[in-house]
Amino acid sequence: MSEGIRVASLDDVEEGEGIAISKEVTGTEDDIAILRDEAGFCWALNDTCTHETASLADGWVEDGDVECPLHASKFNLKTGEVDGLPATQDTVAHRVEVRDGEIYLFPNEKPV
Ligand code: FES
Repeated sequence: MSEGIRVASLDDVEEGEGIAISKEVTGTEDDIAILRDEAGFCWALNDTCTHETASLADGWVEDGDVECPLHASKFNLKTGEVDGLPATQDTVAHRVEVRDGEIYLFPNEKPV
């Protein structure tokens, strides 16, 4: 089983915010937004909003969703499903794990 890709330290991501990791690092079809909720847990979604082209890493993390900074679509942190219009297309959620204060991404694995 894969160990995952170390993409950041936990301290690099403020609670309620996100950072974008380049697809050149992750090997995925899109950059990946690492998002940290108010409880301190980390989640990962494709970074480009499915509505237009905003970066979800620049959005706001609240109540289990990330809100797009451009037109306020919401996506479920765990599943990538649309939770608020105008986006109608779900995004892709990836598994992340925090070990010893470091964030590891498992590209294209579903969150558990
Ligand atoms: S670009 Fe995200 S809601 Fe429009």
